[in-house]
Amino acid sequence: MALWGGRFESGPDAIFREINDSLHFDARLALCDIDGSIAWANALARAHVLTDDENVRLRNALLAMRATIAADPQVPLRDGLGKDEDIHTFVERRLTESLGPLAKKLHTGRSRNDQVATDLRLWTRHAIDARLAELKAARASLLDLAARERTTVISGYTHLQRAQPLLLAHWALAYEAMLARDSVRFKDARARVNLCPLGSGALAGTAYPIDRYALAQDLYFAAPTTNSLDAVSDRDFVLETLAAIAITATHISRLGEDLVLYGSQEFNFFEFGDQVSSGSSLMPQKKNPDAAELMRGKAARTIGSLVTLLTAVKGLPLAYNKDLQEDKEPLFDAMDTLSLMLRVTPVVMRTLKVRVDVCRKAAEGGHSNATDLADYLVEKNIPFREAHDLVGKAVRRALELDISLDRMPLDELRAISPVIAQDVFSRLTIEASLNRREVLGGTGPKVVHTALTKAQEQLNAEQ
Ligand code: ARG
Repeated sequence: MALWGGRFESGPDAIFREINDSLHFDARLALCDIDGSIAWANALARAHVLTDDENVRLRNALLAMRATIAADPQVPLRDGLGKDEDIHTFVERRLTESLGPLAKKLHTGRSRNDQVATDLRLWTRHAIDARLAELKAARASLLDLAARERTTVISGYTHLQRAQPLLLAHWALAYEAMLARDSVRFKDARARVNLCPLGSGALAGTAYPIDRYALAQDLYFAAPTTNSLDAVSDRDFVLETLAAIAITATHISRLGEDLVLYGSQEFNFFEFGDQVSSGSSLMPQKKNPDAAELMRGKAARTIGSLVTLLTAVKGLPLAYNKDLQEDKEPLFDAMDTLSLMLRVTPVVMRTLKVRVDVCRKAAEGGHSNATDLADYLVEKNIPFREAHDLVGKAVRRALELDISLDRMPLDELRAISPVIAQDVFSRLTIEASLNRREVLGGTGPKVVHTALTKAQEQLNAEQ
């Protein structure tokens, strides 16, 4: 069924239907479309366009359809594909079948333009809430790892070269901090999603005396939108949501990459659970980190979705244009993808085995305590630049001798600088290096413990 045949002599060409029909993807909006329609019928009754009795009959029929589709979400696809142009058409046709002529009154004063904008805002709001819950679980799994590995030390890297020792908990908390910001970003985006465009009509505002505040409230929106022309063509709320998705996915991608690297035999810090690994069809010895690789890889399509919609909206004239129908597939795909990424993360983290000894060896290697030796010289009143230079020489000597700085004979060190004394060795241990970094945001054990407790409290306080 089409909603607009009156003006036309011939029906649509098959290829036109193929490019124009959107039911195969916007069927996902079914429940939102019905909720919007129930609220619209109510608004029409409030405006005395429908009688109370008509409103009740429409609502009951819509509620019945809602229950049917809630129980079996495939109904619109099974029944509507090839028949109905989009989900709005499907709902109206089914309503007409169950209710007769009264159904044809529902679309009074409404356009599919304000209707679809409303549906998509309802859908996005719901999806954001689901992602926020999944984000919480992913964050909790990182905090659990931090708690579990409270004393585990790893090497930290810059330029992927060993840099300074870190607590593994500090590393886990870094990723949790990213996802915590993502939660805030989704909540920020949600505030601009949560506005009601219904009543904007096709572009100029509905011609009926609709109480748009009451209508917004019926749909639990914070407020109505304030410019009809903008409201029917604005997709900022999708763009902002896609941006939040792409950034979150990018964080998970970076986590995935750290996991893949640290799980490689070259690093050998981590071993993945069998539950999230796969084997090779050819090489019997292989255990591949597929889950972590897909945490890394799936970010690509979410970024693609953001760019797709930015490109679709760029240069569009006001107001509604059919191009805007292209907003849904990228949003749905990005949401589905992020959901997968967020839900696999806790399983990967929970089943991760940490090889504490290997991690510690890496932290001990690479002359990661060179900065600590320079700081020791600074304490002995040598300006840092000079200390840096001296320690550089010490590292060169250590490389020649093929030993670590803390194993260098004292006289070798004293040959570099006579201010160095026996007490230097107590300063070159990993523990000394960590303990000196009890600064806010640092990897000192006390401050990391405080950060972990704070993050746990923060997470528990979020609803
Ligand atoms: N399927 C359309 C979309 O997703 C619904 C709005 C159609 N509006 C119109 N004027 N043809 O954007």
